[in-house]
Amino acid sequence: MSNLLHKLLLLGQAATALFSHWKALTEIQQQNLSSQVAAIDVPTFQLQQECLQNNQKLEKEFFPPQKYAFSGSEEDYKAGIKAIGAGKVACLILAGGQGTRLGWSGPKGTFPISLIKQKSLFQLICEKTKAAGKCVQKDLSLAFMTSPDNHSDTLQFFQDNDFFGLAKEQISFFSQEMLPLLDTQGNLFLEEVDSLAFGPDGNGFALHLLVKTGLLRKWQDQGVEIINVILIDNPLADPFDAELIGFHIRQQVDLTLKSILRIDPHESVGVVVQNDNNLAVVEYSEILLEEREAVLADGSLKYPLANLSLFCINLSKIQSLVHQHPIMPLHRAFKSVKGWNEIEGSEKKMAWKFEKFIFDILPWISKEALLVYPREACFSPLKNSEGAFSSKTVQADLQSLDRQIIRSLTGLEPPNVPFELSQEFYYLTPAIREKWKGRSLPNLGGYIEV
Ligand code: UTP
Repeated sequence: MSNLLHKLLLLGQAATALFSHWKALTEIQQQNLSSQVAAIDVPTFQLQQECLQNNQKLEKEFFPPQKYAFSGSEEDYKAGIKAIGAGKVACLILAGGQGTRLGWSGPKGTFPISLIKQKSLFQLICEKTKAAGKCVQKDLSLAFMTSPDNHSDTLQFFQDNDFFGLAKEQISFFSQEMLPLLDTQGNLFLEEVDSLAFGPDGNGFALHLLVKTGLLRKWQDQGVEIINVILIDNPLADPFDAELIGFHIRQQVDLTLKSILRIDPHESVGVVVQNDNNLAVVEYSEILLEEREAVLADGSLKYPLANLSLFCINLSKIQSLVHQHPIMPLHRAFKSVKGWNEIEGSEKKMAWKFEKFIFDILPWISKEALLVYPREACFSPLKNSEGAFSSKTVQADLQSLDRQIIRSLTGLEPPNVPFELSQEFYYLTPAIREKWKGRSLPNLGGYIEV
């Protein structure tokens, strides 16, 4: 107990609230609680306290990004295919979120989203990887970052589904870390009788963990040079985006950010800015309203680009970046969470959650490029149970992209019935193109394979 009290002292926490019921706990419960307190990292806890006093802000002045290109280069696509086929690209999928707004009980990646077959987000990514591999005749590697909350459920889901047709060796999993939640006074609190309240620490440490877990080294030994990073909740995200990779190589940069034009100033997406010579992102919840809404004389948005947290980065850069910047800034969010008190037992309470954001690496990289895509080709996130960014809007976007693919492949307007394309339509080989030229779709719709 004396070690525990010493640790609490270091954390500046009063023992009374956390340990008033200590004597009523079993020995195992006491061990649980004390090992959690012992594991709290004091410097990180101090950062959390600082963040409560002064939320992360861009201290420097920022401007609209000066230079960006639009997608559509056949040359870049071909160069990307070549690099992917040479085994130089791997994909990292950030899937450690809690999906609170969606209200889905399992990991978000298990959500059934496709229109006809109800394929899950995980399945779509795996099938995309398989199709991209077929296109370049190479088994491609991917890794999922989970969290302690959803790691075992995620693994189970993959095992139950035979890794969705990929070889087990192609897929890696690693778990992110957790941070203590803090109450309105900045104090630790209980979630259960014998455990503190914790939450996943955001997606920002993914590259650090890639190094820490040894996966980066493994991929490097396999000949991987570029990592493509995507989010699990955007089924239009491309795990092996040939054009992005080709563009990235041609630009000779360390990181290329994939972006779209902002259309609605109030949309819940981060804003891409330039800070000195480097890119940065200001999260929608942190940007001043006047900057978010700012327009130029012609009425267009002053900050035209949205952040999708889709990017590719050189593996060699990850190593130096992680070494030079072992700590990432924290952002706070005030959320409704589960708590525990002696009188009522379980309770709902408002508390501070702390997260690192992956886009906070941008200001640390000077050789960066920006490639802007049509929104309908790459952005349809699943965030909410209804309204904007819900399964309804995602399914509509998936359907309209499938229709567009059929239109450009066959040269014909598809029938006005719901249908779903297999993921091979997203990675076209010359043989698929030839087969579908001038060919009409069945009038009944349904699931269409190449
Ligand atoms: P969001 O910030 O939208 O969070 O994640 P979320 O957890 O999916 O949903 P809410 O906010 O609880 O409703 C954006 C992406 O970052 C990943 C998510 O899995 C998603 O792909 N993420 C988020 C992590 O990997 N770890 C985290 O701690 C948070």
